[in-house]
Amino acid sequence: MTLILGIESTAHTFGVSVVSSEPPHILSDSRRIYSPRQGGILPREVAPFFSNVAGEVVREALDEAGVGIRDVDAIAVALGPGMGPQLRVGASVARALASYYGKPLVPVNHAVAHVEIARFLTGLRDPIVLYVAGGNTTVVSYSEGRYRVFGETLDIPLGNLQDTFAREAGIGPPYVVEGKHVIDICSEGGEFIEGMPYIVKGQDSSFSGLLTAALRLLKKGSRLQDVCFTLREIAYSSVVEVLERGLAHTGKREVLLTGGVAASKLLNEKIEVMAKLHGALFKPIPGKYSGDNGVMIALTGLPAYLWGYTVEPSKALIRQRWRIDQVDIPWYYEFPR
Ligand code: FE2
Repeated sequence: MTLILGIESTAHTFGVSVVSSEPPHILSDSRRIYSPRQGGILPREVAPFFSNVAGEVVREALDEAGVGIRDVDAIAVALGPGMGPQLRVGASVARALASYYGKPLVPVNHAVAHVEIARFLTGLRDPIVLYVAGGNTTVVSYSEGRYRVFGETLDIPLGNLQDTFAREAGIGPPYVVEGKHVIDICSEGGEFIEGMPYIVKGQDSSFSGLLTAALRLLKKGSRLQDVCFTLREIAYSSVVEVLERGLAHTGKREVLLTGGVAASKLLNEKIEVMAKLHGALFKPIPGKYSGDNGVMIALTGLPAYLWGYTVEPSKALIRQRWRIDQVDIPWYYEFPR
């Protein structure tokens, strides 16, 4: 049996988890989420918050798993992509644990981890994947050793579009209330209105023009619920179109949705309908694993460690712009087993 402790700290969540190579695989899942009182995430405020909670989150994850740090075989840590100050906290904690206890260190790409946890939870082996979150909007699928990017946003990510609109419209933060994004809540009773652009260029989406148009309509007196409804409808439809093109182009038979926006019921429904039209299999992931967590880092680190992929603590440097298509994953077809 192999035990991996995973550490996540790329954005707003400091998460730690212990996973096992044998069922039940997920032994613990401890998290602290920083939520700003107003505005967006300021790295200089989140990093001290992470530093303060790091010790107790590691302790909690070990206790919940019923193991000690010495029982753990390796430490996996998300080294990017993400925000520098937060990444440095997770990397420092991981390097310290690895050095002090003499444990191998496994570097994990946060974007890869979002996809790998979705594959693990659904059992889908070789899907085309829509990864949508506050910092990412990408369609990827695996080919010849790596995830390849089929399409992505040309400007802001979809999650960022939703949060920025909510903030400017005065309905957030918090952006998520009882598992629902405030855009979903304010869309209730809304109707589709004209005046917002639907943009897919080639295989890529674009949302900044949509954001500008939505805010302009609001200023001119359009009803908030209509603007919310239309913004969401256009944004979701455009990413599903890119995903559909990717599915048709790659000939994959499985479809996944992952990342923070994967908690959206409507987006899951749209993708399910699209997948059915193509005779492909779509499986949703549980909402609690759509957002950032330590489990996804530990789960991605596990097969990497078993493959022998580790780095010296002194070489475990953060990479803020580490793209998903820069990561070699030779063990892809062996995981999930
Ligand atoms: Fe994430």
